[in-house]
Amino acid sequence: MKILLVGKGGREDAIAWKIAQSPRLTELYCAPGSPGMERHGICRNIDVMDIDGQIAFAKEVEADLVVIGPENPLEAGIVDRFEQEGFKTFGPNAAAARIETDKDFALDLMHRYGIPTGRFKTFTDPDEAIPYIREQGAPIVLKAAGLAAGKGVIVCDTIEQAIVGVEEILVNASFGEAGAKLVVMEYLDGEEASIFGFTDGQDLVYAVSSQDHKRIGEGETGPNTGGMGAYAPAPVVTLDLEREIYDTIMKPTVDALAAEGHPFKGILYGGIIVTENGPQVIEFNCRLGDPEAQVVLPLMKTDLVDILEAGVDGRIGELTVESEDRSACCVVMASDGYPTSYEQGFPIYAIDEAEALGDVIVFHAGTDRRDGQLLTAGGRVLAVSAVGNDIPDAIDLAYRAVDTISFENIYTRRDIGFQALDRLSTTS
Ligand code: AMP
Ligand code: GLY
Repeated sequence: MKILLVGKGGREDAIAWKIAQSPRLTELYCAPGSPGMERHGICRNIDVMDIDGQIAFAKEVEADLVVIGPENPLEAGIVDRFEQEGFKTFGPNAAAARIETDKDFALDLMHRYGIPTGRFKTFTDPDEAIPYIREQGAPIVLKAAGLAAGKGVIVCDTIEQAIVGVEEILVNASFGEAGAKLVVMEYLDGEEASIFGFTDGQDLVYAVSSQDHKRIGEGETGPNTGGMGAYAPAPVVTLDLEREIYDTIMKPTVDALAAEGHPFKGILYGGIIVTENGPQVIEFNCRLGDPEAQVVLPLMKTDLVDILEAGVDGRIGELTVESEDRSACCVVMASDGYPTSYEQGFPIYAIDEAEALGDVIVFHAGTDRRDGQLLTAGGRVLAVSAVGNDIPDAIDLAYRAVDTISFENIYTRRDIGFQALDRLSTTS
């Protein structure tokens, strides 16, 4: 089978790495791909938003299956377009992708179908938003309704902070068009976990649970980023809780989207918070998480190509997804200054030595190759994943790998997995 994978980030490098292991693969093509993805397939430099270019490439290589990594082309209707051209395509169409790309749509759907989440109200006028915020009280959460690369959320501890936030989003338009609508959401308190369901629009199967680290600073402080590290499975998601999340959140959401006439085919990413009142939804995404993919896929035993194909062919119900009974940890090596501004273009050394430790995979998130030299080319540069017998082992190995690699201007959080370690130390 010939597969075209659209994307270039750390998540797509992990998807490419996993697809490349399939005995069913004859050739993997990646567009635009990255120096990391070149290890697994043939890359062609076509932007993810150049949908005409992507379709022309798929025709040229006669792709049997097209897989979409990131959310922006999904919002732009890349799946609709590929399907019109007759390609089997894994990912939701634009209407179903709204579960991520329009938080107002997603929260409204959840409320109408009784899926547990926070109270919310959506505004375009700051003069209406501010009285509502005063009435609700702090803490309170502000969200740009559209896509903002994981950065469009402000968790406000005080009313004053929220008023400044409303100004930022609706008046200064700090998140551009994504913030044309402002969602004000109830603050939900608890530990977070990411749940990935592979669905054909009807049935849904899980990968292992995971946990991301969204803030730039240690102890989850400072501004939100795309994600600074992850581990899997997440001890907070017990087997009972996993079942409850399936029964009360994931399956009802798949059913709700189908009932609304927008069946969702692809990866439904539940951003879950485990509150005193049980699991609730913080947000949904319409694709794998980054860097969660870099811990979930290394643990997966099932052939990913079988899952992707079953998703497209409506056969997810026939499938079980198996994962190794081990743990994984991923530490993101970023450019200092991310998520604001940072210098790039520095040589990267010793990736091979890190991988030679064994059970280590160094995924490329933002790298470039010039004259044979690998260079930093982004805020998040590398996602260093390690698999171990348990979470402490995986964390230890991931940091040994990180400490082997070097480049100028590195920033790395040293506390990835701290919530799992806390939980393990209090329950053992
Ligand atoms: P999101 O991009 O919607 O996942 O939000 C980014 C981060 O903001 C989440 O991972 C949470 O830590 C936090 N957050 C978002 N919504 C809420 C909420 N309703 N209550 C508490 N924290 C939230
Ligand atoms: N890791 C968060 C995200 O992919 O949205």
